[in-house]
Amino acid sequence: MGLTYFKRFRMELDLDRPLFAAPTCPPAYQLLPFDERLIRDHAAAKFLSFRQELDVNVFPCLGRRDGCLQLMREIAKRSGFVPEATWLLQYTNPQSGRQESVGTVQGLQYEGWGAIQNLGICPLHRGGGLGTLLLHMAARGFRSVGLARMHLEVTTDNTAALRLYERLGFRRAKVVYKAAEVAMA
Ligand SMILES: CC(C)(COP(=O)(O)OP(=O)(O)OC[C@H]1O[C@@H](n2cnc3c(N)ncnc32)[C@H](O)[C@@H]1OP(=O)(O)O)[C@@H](O)C(=O)NCCC(=O)NCCS
Repeated sequence: MGLTYFKRFRMELDLDRPLFAAPTCPPAYQLLPFDERLIRDHAAAKFLSFRQELDVNVFPCLGRRDGCLQLMREIAKRSGFVPEATWLLQYTNPQSGRQESVGTVQGLQYEGWGAIQNLGICPLHRGGGLGTLLLHMAARGFRSVGLARMHLEVTTDNTAALRLYERLGFRRAKVVYKAAEVAMA
């Protein structure tokens, strides 16, 4: 193992002006506000969204089911947790009729900022506006508790996420480096 530094952008968005437009929630999907009984569902959506992605190198817990569950529990227990900015997206599979957890976002607050944690949409459900929808719901949640700005961090190589955030009006505020242990070849 060796220590590697991942370059990330801190991205910021003002919430005291009109928010970016959100697509309507498509018919087969349901947006669920935070409820403690949904922690496992958030963790499942987080795992399925991140397990094959770049950020697993930065945050190895995202690549394990139990790691995602532990992380979700920790986030929900923090003093700055914002349930109003935490949303789960479920999908009703038309074949089986079963509910699948396919998207999640969580919100924290500190020092007057809303902080987005782990926005994730499962691969099969991407590109239809669902990531935009979850971000919009989180932004509304932060506003509802009186926050006027929000931020997130994104790995600079995560081009899909970066493009999405910039299209919605987030600006790059600064570069930060996150150290992580990575297996060396
Ligand atoms: C980043 C992520 C959440 C985006 O989710 P998504 O549901 O694909 O996001 P959206 O569909 O809202 O936006 C993606 C693209 O679809 C397009 N789109 C939005 N609404 C659309 C619609 N109704 N129909 C078709 N395309 C649409 C957007 O214009 C956007 O295009 P762009 O790539 O040119 O910016 C998803 O890729 C993901 O989970 N990645 C892995 C985890 C991760 O890295 N998370 C971010 C950590 S910082």
